[in-house]
Amino acid sequence: MNKPTADFEVITAFREDFPALKDYAYMDVAARGVPSATTRAVLYAHMDARTENGGDKEAMFATIESARGRFAELINAQADEVTFTKNISEGLNMVATGLNLKAGDNVIVCADLEHPNNVYAWLNLQRDGVEVRMVKAVNNAMPVDAMIARIDERTRCVTASTVSFAPGFRTDVDRLGTACCERGVCFLVDAAQSAGILHTDVLASKIDALTTSTQKGLLADYGMGFLYVRRAWAEKMQPAYLARFGVDLGDAHEASLGDLSFKYAQGARRFDLGNYNFGNAAMVDASLKQILEIGTRRIEAHVCKLSHALAQGFVDMGVPVAGGKPGPHLAGIVTVGTMSANHYGTEDERFDKLYKHLGENKVRLSIRRGLLRFSLHAYNNMADVERVLGLSRKFLG
Ligand SMILES: Cc1ncc(COP(=O)(O)O)c(C=O)c1O
Repeated sequence: MNKPTADFEVITAFREDFPALKDYAYMDVAARGVPSATTRAVLYAHMDARTENGGDKEAMFATIESARGRFAELINAQADEVTFTKNISEGLNMVATGLNLKAGDNVIVCADLEHPNNVYAWLNLQRDGVEVRMVKAVNNAMPVDAMIARIDERTRCVTASTVSFAPGFRTDVDRLGTACCERGVCFLVDAAQSAGILHTDVLASKIDALTTSTQKGLLADYGMGFLYVRRAWAEKMQPAYLARFGVDLGDAHEASLGDLSFKYAQGARRFDLGNYNFGNAAMVDASLKQILEIGTRRIEAHVCKLSHALAQGFVDMGVPVAGGKPGPHLAGIVTVGTMSANHYGTEDERFDKLYKHLGENKVRLSIRRGLLRFSLHAYNNMADVERVLGLSRKFLG
């Protein structure tokens, strides 16, 4: 018998820590991931302290800095380049407003593929005379060449999701990053569908700003996110909101009003506001530790092996898979069916019924843009893939 590889053993041990995976083939991280038992225990411990004695504020701040540092490590950034947000939209809006755009400046976005939250943030700037340059998707993939071609001397920002929420194809962020860097344009990515799942190196990919939330690939809960802003860009930005943790107070107590001619805190810390979501920060600190222990290169390789097997299985069944045969476009999301604007159902009754059937058999997935969307993380395994393919094959006949 073949000896299990070290990678296999690490991933198997990780899966054991997820109660949901005992029952479910959970393939819905693109909507929300499931927290581990370890992460839940950390939240309980936080609440125990809060309930029993009010909690220890210094320890809470230490957790904040630990989470900040771990997120920075996850994407190869520095801790001072990371701030906290409520969600992805807040991170996007912090950059949109922090760039201080003027009438006649423009931003480039492919609205066809972005989540609405990465469109409204920019449309809102039209009130200041900012031009939002919409570029059409090409075969449902990010139109990288066309986006680069639209950059001119008034372009201040190019924004794209690293992986679209549907149909879930990867964006060539390295090429967009290089093009933006050469032209001095801020490159902002929405990493909702990749953070914690795909290996990410903001330096290598020349990403200037990146935002994500904590309930998806970071495996914590709703109500919090991170925003990375490269130091050189952050130092040029003026936050739309300002509060004590965004101001350089030196060693002064958090409740003291410093010099009225205040100085912004270093780097992206200037976007910090008041108190934090300490409970969720404790959770994400714990889940980031688990993710970092496995390593994102290993997670990405594992997830892609599964997504390729799932996509190939559907192709072999004659089911239409977005993007066709598995290839480099695939990340951790596999979508099947016909793309439409419908998020409540599909365009084909067979797939609506399949969705229901899978749900009844404890497979968790979503419908987005008329497609059945299966999304994977390190806690999934080949047995999950085979379960979904087996149920689908039998059901579709
Ligand atoms: C690509 C992408 N961006 C943004 C969001 C959601 O943004 P927010 O965290 O602000 O709710 C999602 C959620 O599904 C998403 O997939």
